[in-house]
Amino acid sequence: MEIGFGGGEHLVAQAAAHPDQRLLGVEPFLNGVASCLRHIEESGAQNIRLHQGDARDVIARLPDVSLDLVYILFPDPWPKTRHHKRRLIQPEFLSDLARVMKRGAELRFATDWANYAAWTLEHLSRDARFTWLADRAEDWRKPWAGHVTTRYEEKKLGDCAPIWLRFALKSLL
Ligand SMILES: C[S@@+](CC[C@H](N)C(=O)[O-])C[C@H]1O[C@@H](n2cnc3c(N)ncnc32)[C@H](O)[C@@H]1O
Repeated sequence: MEIGFGGGEHLVAQAAAHPDQRLLGVEPFLNGVASCLRHIEESGAQNIRLHQGDARDVIARLPDVSLDLVYILFPDPWPKTRHHKRRLIQPEFLSDLARVMKRGAELRFATDWANYAAWTLEHLSRDARFTWLADRAEDWRKPWAGHVTTRYEEKKLGDCAPIWLRFALKSLL
């Protein structure tokens, strides 16, 4: 699942690279959905489903333990302190994600806003269901294998170099 796929370039590239997988993209912005449909048509990908709307509504309707991988790439940063409550990463959102992710499934998050990276690490560290998959600085300084550059990433609008965070949903004890 890709949450906030923007123009869909990353989603469609992942679908083309993994024809055996089924991808679900969620994006409220109509122009983004239209752009993604164009990319899907050009690529001929058959393994993508799209929903125009809020990912939180989609997640609420997904069955338990159904997702292998969740991408949140360069989400809206809401840099002003008074707007932090609008950020996607919130304790309730993580609870909803934990319900629908399979044990061992990954959440892959990227941002080029230092405060949002710190915010995300803080929230995920506080949530005992997730574990941060990093052993050394390289792990958060460099994208994971197979990453495809996104349109927002290219714009470099943030206040730092992109930070790449991978978390796994822990297995049940
Ligand atoms: C800064 S853009 C990044 C887009 C894309 N991931 C990229 O890197 O080019 C953030 C995207 O998240 C979408 N978005 C914001 N809130 C969302 C939500 N609740 N559910 C799904 N997408 C959301 C926005 O419409 C926007 O397209």
